[in-house]
Amino acid sequence: MPAELARLAEDGARPPHEWLAEVRPRERAPDGRPFVYLNMVSSADGRATIGGRTEALGSEADTLLLTELRALADAVLIGTGTLRAEGYGHLMRNAERLERRRAAGLAPVPVAVLLTRSFDLPWDAGLFAAEGQPVHIYTQADGEPPDVAADVEATKCSEPFVAGALRDLRERGVRALLCEGGPTLNGALLAAGVVDELFLTVAPLLAGIADAPRIVEGEDLAAPIDMELVWTLRHEDELYLRYRIR
Ligand SMILES: NC(=O)c1ccc[n+]([C@@H]2O[C@H](COP(=O)([O-])OP(=O)(O)OC[C@H]3O[C@@H](n4cnc5c(N)ncnc54)[C@H](OP(=O)(O)O)[C@@H]3O)[C@@H](O)[C@H]2O)c1
Repeated sequence: MPAELARLAEDGARPPHEWLAEVRPRERAPDGRPFVYLNMVSSADGRATIGGRTEALGSEADTLLLTELRALADAVLIGTGTLRAEGYGHLMRNAERLERRRAAGLAPVPVAVLLTRSFDLPWDAGLFAAEGQPVHIYTQADGEPPDVAADVEATKCSEPFVAGALRDLRERGVRALLCEGGPTLNGALLAAGVVDELFLTVAPLLAGIADAPRIVEGEDLAAPIDMELVWTLRHEDELYLRYRIR
């Protein structure tokens, strides 16, 4: 029988945190590493940046979804290229989300996690200027963090770098790790086989920029990675796809 196609029904709209209550990432942490969920936004022609940033891609609703994904996490992994481009700041300030985290037994603020083999970091980024924001750096290089307002700890980590850092995070009680990209870091995580879910926003625009990155960059993967579609949500013209990595 030929395949039949279903048109997505207009189901009742709910605020993102109500949909995300189903995700329960902390409960799904495997042995030896946290549950890792990736959040990315892409243009309809597959580009992950416009003018070197994400600002022109995602809508307000996309930002809200990202912030709610953060609210479920013990820690947030941020690529160092992304930190350089986006700057960042405090990861959690909203009183309602802080209260939800408290009720769920989470620390008030997720730890920002950085992986850098080189220890070449943008120390002037807003993340490091965020008073009291916990930041944990895993590095393969020698170096001491400068005196910044954020609460920075650095751990030296040898090969396998990604798996070793994730194991250490789990030992420190991190069960749910949101990765916010960028593309090169995503590629390294996927190659290491440590990504459980992908939340992908498809922005309703065509970037038309030939050399802008896609959501996964870096070295080729050994083979394509199959995914299972868990849900499709929509706000106006923007789509939010949730995939489980097989
Ligand atoms: N569309 C979206 O949703 C989205 C999301 C995030 C970012 N972005 C955009 O993506 C761009 C930044 O992405 P990017 O790909 O250049 O940088 P990135 O993925 O944020 O960070 C790359 C860096 O990660 C470090 N790294 C640590 N472990 C690694 C490993 N095992 N393999 C490879 N690298 C490792 C490397 O620095 P060391 O050499 O020091 O190890 C590398 O330079 C920005 O323009 C940002 O706006 C888009």
